[in-house]
Amino acid sequence: MRLPIIGANWKMHKTIREAESFAAEFPADADLYRKVEVVIFPTFTALAVVGNALRGTGIKMGAQNMHFETKGAFTGEISPNMLLDAGCSYVLLGHSERRHIFKETNEFINKKVKAALAHGLVPILCIGETLEERQNGRTEDVCKEQLLGSLTDIEARDITTMVVAYEPVWAIGTGVNATSQDAEETIAFIRRIIHEKYGQKAGESVRIQYGGSVKPTNAREYFSKENIDGALVGGASLEVDSLSEIIKSAGII
Ligand code: PGA
Repeated sequence: MRLPIIGANWKMHKTIREAESFAAEFPADADLYRKVEVVIFPTFTALAVVGNALRGTGIKMGAQNMHFETKGAFTGEISPNMLLDAGCSYVLLGHSERRHIFKETNEFINKKVKAALAHGLVPILCIGETLEERQNGRTEDVCKEQLLGSLTDIEARDITTMVVAYEPVWAIGTGVNATSQDAEETIAFIRRIIHEKYGQKAGESVRIQYGGSVKPTNAREYFSKENIDGALVGGASLEVDSLSEIIKSAGII
């Protein structure tokens, strides 16, 4: 049985004060957070206060990005050990906004995945096709290329501990979500690729989320699918009520 995982990707939203009050208002429900792993991804500036506010709640925290070096002349970057220091246990890597707006390549993301694992941060590796790629029938090829390209030289035992988020680019922030059937099919395909390359145990234990316009009204459909282990939520994670509804629907499956 894989533990469902809900990630709240706040992107470039919330001031320190807004982030802190969200964390303070979030319902305490340690039993639920044992059944559904919850990870909040605030902006870098809010990590320290959110980390403090979440202490003892069972809710975890991650960063939205990082650099692979531990220190040095990398203006504007943040290292894995700095994230650990701020209280993170997770890190989002290869989000489509990083790939498309900031031109991050699989090779660059692969260095970050390795650095995260070496520091004991759990990477959530995001992959997914654009609308044009989907319309050209390239969804599986693109997902396979991003997945294997970002996981070069990573051992099967590390794959079992990490999380993959399948996020079709056309569904992110658009309100147009993939159908649960389409998401299930692509996620089953991703699991098969992991199985073939890293063995049965990795294929069975790696958790794979769906992301892209997940809301309280559609979340349950995804979580009822065999291969979908939770969601990475952007817009709907910015309000306490909608995020907690989504978490609850993962807890009753
Ligand atoms: P969305 O974003 O839920 O606003 O579509 C998801 C994501 O980018 O992780």
